[in-house]
Amino acid sequence: MDRKQLIKKYFDFFKSKSHKEIPNASLIPENDPTALFISAGMHPIVPYLLGQKHPLGKRLMNVQKCIRTTDIEEVGDIKHHTFFEQLGNWSLGDYFKKEAIEMSFEFLTEILKIPKEKLSASVFEGDRDAPKDTESFKTLISLGIPKQRIAFLNKEENWWGPAGKTGPCGPDSEIFYWISKKPVPKKFNPKDKNWIELGNNVFLQYNKNAKGNYEQLKQNNVDFGGGSERMLAILEGHNDDYLTNSFKLIIKKIENLSDKKYKENKRTMRIIADHIKASVFIIANGITPSNTEQGYVLRRLIRRAIRYGREINIKNFTSKVAEPVFKIYDDYSELEKNKKHILQELKEEEEKFNLTLERGLKVFKKTAKDKKISGKESFLLYQSYGFPLEMTIELAKEKNIKVDEKGFEKEFKKHQEISRTATEGRFKSGLADDSEATTKLHTATHLLLAALKIILKDNSIIQKGSNITPERLRLDFSFPRKLAKEEIKEVEDLVNAQIQQGCEIIREEMTPKQAKEKGASGIFDKKYGEKVSVYSVGDFSKEICTGPHVKNTSELGYFKIKKEESSSSSVRRIKAILE
Ligand code: SER
Repeated sequence: MDRKQLIKKYFDFFKSKSHKEIPNASLIPENDPTALFISAGMHPIVPYLLGQKHPLGKRLMNVQKCIRTTDIEEVGDIKHHTFFEQLGNWSLGDYFKKEAIEMSFEFLTEILKIPKEKLSASVFEGDRDAPKDTESFKTLISLGIPKQRIAFLNKEENWWGPAGKTGPCGPDSEIFYWISKKPVPKKFNPKDKNWIELGNNVFLQYNKNAKGNYEQLKQNNVDFGGGSERMLAILEGHNDDYLTNSFKLIIKKIENLSDKKYKENKRTMRIIADHIKASVFIIANGITPSNTEQGYVLRRLIRRAIRYGREINIKNFTSKVAEPVFKIYDDYSELEKNKKHILQELKEEEEKFNLTLERGLKVFKKTAKDKKISGKESFLLYQSYGFPLEMTIELAKEKNIKVDEKGFEKEFKKHQEISRTATEGRFKSGLADDSEATTKLHTATHLLLAALKIILKDNSIIQKGSNITPERLRLDFSFPRKLAKEEIKEVEDLVNAQIQQGCEIIREEMTPKQAKEKGASGIFDKKYGEKVSVYSVGDFSKEICTGPHVKNTSELGYFKIKKEESSSSSVRRIKAILE
């Protein structure tokens, strides 16, 4: 079986249970300033979990590409990945615990034919915030899972979310598979590493608020997620995700380039394979290596792969290792379309790092003799030799020495670059911020896009990216040149005129085809679901969007453009605020 066959089986099954497919969203969150990457299938649908109506109904499914930056240093074992594909199904206030668990087990045991005897499960034991989950327990018993194979665990283990500080969360019930050749133990011991998590049903029934309290949500949601790589490993009979079809060709390429065997270089080759695969996807989603935000994560991944390449004596290899990624994932149009650019970016980043890596390693070795690495030294490695701090920490760890991270921060701030701690906070996934301020800025972004088309007399302008924090909006759009001062002023005036008119924002549901016919803005080469929401502001703006928006433009205040600059070739970036 390969990943495409697994995904098809999953979709066919959940379609038979009345689920509708939603698109595999971009890796870069569109309206969530608190996260750098999409890290779970539920992430793009947060507004619907909070109660907004979804145009496709109450039962949804998809396969979502995800990046988990918290796992970067864990990569190297049999099961951790930076990039993975998550199979997901959701109930938006429709079915709940019993039906969700029953469907998961039916899929695993009857469709995938995974023997029930090799499965175990965990459920939430209950605490101050939520009761013991007896309903899930009873359901598992009724499915023939013996009592001893079900563990009641605490919040640390059996509670998922919120991914950020606030948002949907709840108790969960995880399903585990016995991967060892040894006989399956009668009793489930969650600490035994041979029990591998296969999937997780999260019962998103609470909203954690800013005070840290758990409020009951308007509806009881289910969020199931299972990593496709893990499922494939089990189906193909491997106890190593890197032996599956999702990795095999990449590993083979590394073996060929290095003339070394995977068996003897597992950790190194896994790191290279994972990091290059993740990098290909991140670049395909519009990011280039840099020292901030997503670009910094990308740089870390590429440079970590390059450093590990040295351990098996390969150099100038990243774009070659990337080749098989395009074959394995040929169903992602964004990869093929951007192939030349992706390979070029990898090559350039590698060339850049090659110039300093060897010298940097020498400096590191010398510094490491003192048994500790100061802030100044780690900052020198960062600035002059291109070592991401995490790389210095990792190298130091191998030698059992410490890095003065606080000292690094101090140096960093001194040099007036962005604070790494600020970025770090965002490495952990967060949820869509539905505050009043971001909602307003979101509506203003629609007005801005429409105004740009009119003032620049170019109807082919499309949105290339959007990032909204409570303080400002940031819109990337296709346009080949810098805007003149007068143009910026005219755009501002036009947006403000719409605000003053007090136009209502109307939401309608239709098929993507109808939306296109009606002239709605959208990215029509991207896959939409069967039905989409279209938001209109009078005749002025019409856009496919997931919301949320204000009801009337009069709520917005005064619109002001703070900056207009280049984002990348033929893409401009505007930052604007509402006063
Ligand atoms: N959101 C949960 C997870 O990622 C279940 O899908 O584990």
